[in-house]
Amino acid sequence: TQNYRITLLPGDGIGPEIMAVAVDVLKIIGQQFDLQFEFQEALIGGAAIDATGEPLPSTTLDTCRQSDAVLLAAIGGYKWDSLPSNIRPEAGLLGLRAGLGLFANLRPAQILPQLIDASTLKREVVEGVDIMVVRELTGGIYFGKPKGIFTTDTGEKRGVNTMVYTESEIERIGRVAFETARKRKGKLCSVDKANVLEVSQLWRDRITKLSQEYPDVELSHLYVDNAAMQLVRAPKQFDTIVTGNLFGDILSDAAAMLTGSIGMLPSASLGASGPGVFEPVHGSAPDIAGQDKANPLAQVLSAAMMLRYGLDQPKAADRIEQAVFQVLEQGDRTGDIMSLGKNLLGCRAMGDALIKVLEEK
Ligand code: NAD
Ligand code: IPM
Ligand code: MN
Repeated sequence: TQNYRITLLPGDGIGPEIMAVAVDVLKIIGQQFDLQFEFQEALIGGAAIDATGEPLPSTTLDTCRQSDAVLLAAIGGYKWDSLPSNIRPEAGLLGLRAGLGLFANLRPAQILPQLIDASTLKREVVEGVDIMVVRELTGGIYFGKPKGIFTTDTGEKRGVNTMVYTESEIERIGRVAFETARKRKGKLCSVDKANVLEVSQLWRDRITKLSQEYPDVELSHLYVDNAAMQLVRAPKQFDTIVTGNLFGDILSDAAAMLTGSIGMLPSASLGASGPGVFEPVHGSAPDIAGQDKANPLAQVLSAAMMLRYGLDQPKAADRIEQAVFQVLEQGDRTGDIMSLGKNLLGCRAMGDALIKVLEEK
């Protein structure tokens, strides 16, 4: 039996609802694959602010550091939206990523055949879409200094953030992206704003230089505005995309919609060593929280990414993904992916459907 310590961070909003489903799925998978999961729950985000005054208590970070992987749901909500930025729920998530050194965020966007009708785009546009966004996660404008709200000489307030990348930061995310593209279709598109931003000029230069070491990968470059347009116009042109923190945040939400719903998209955040964090691309969806309406599949697929990328258990990951395909195949849908003639389920019922499929085997 393989033993794994997993830190669970359910967080806020729909977080606890979708986490409960993922944990049930992991428990069954554990039995079937002879994996022993030791789950440890910890506080982050608004839930942590309410309990301790801080969005990322040091005990949470310690617990995460001592585990083999971290499964996170989502943080944030209206209740905490007017707090200063350094004690908002979002600061907890950023602190977790920085604290664990998770510079590489993998965000796959794959259209499942069962969900083509759930996409807002035409079938011929989305059929076959399979994109991996490699988002830099611990640098760029999210972390650059100076940052803050300052007062000018005239007494006016001035909000400042700074987009910064060093050569070494670009290189290490570039390597992850080239390696990722190499294992996929061998196409990498680097997205920047090099026509305007110096930080992007450096980004483009370093990525271009690095490409000499990966002659088998076909590299292209796009400006981020064009990339956003191309993603919606003709998404099948993309295989792997590498980009900075902010552009990656925005483009991955856009890519999510190609697949039918953001409620379907998982992610993996990885560092050079130590535990990774596995979390859906979506947020805490406060508009539907507590109503048993959330789609738990992004969370369940994040657990699959945890098995694949964090724990090196690809067979167990495959099994979870197959179960997800199967419930979709039998017509089970949450509201966000609902279409005519399908069965509308709540979050919990979708979880039950998954468990049933997993038990059948
Ligand atoms: P969101 O992703 O939470 O929600 C956007 C829309 O998508 C909403 O209409 C929501 O109902 C829907 N949606 C999202 N996930 C869904 C799911 N699993 N099933 C069905 N529908 C789903 O983005 P937002 O509304 O801009 O942000 C809400 C809060 O979440 C904010 O506080 C934000 O900072 C936070 N957030 C957190 C994370 C994270 O924890 N990683 C990511 C994004 C946003
Ligand atoms: C995400 C979220 C976060 C981000 C926020 C909540 C800090 O939007 O994980 O995509 O911007 O990275
Ligand atoms: Mn986001």
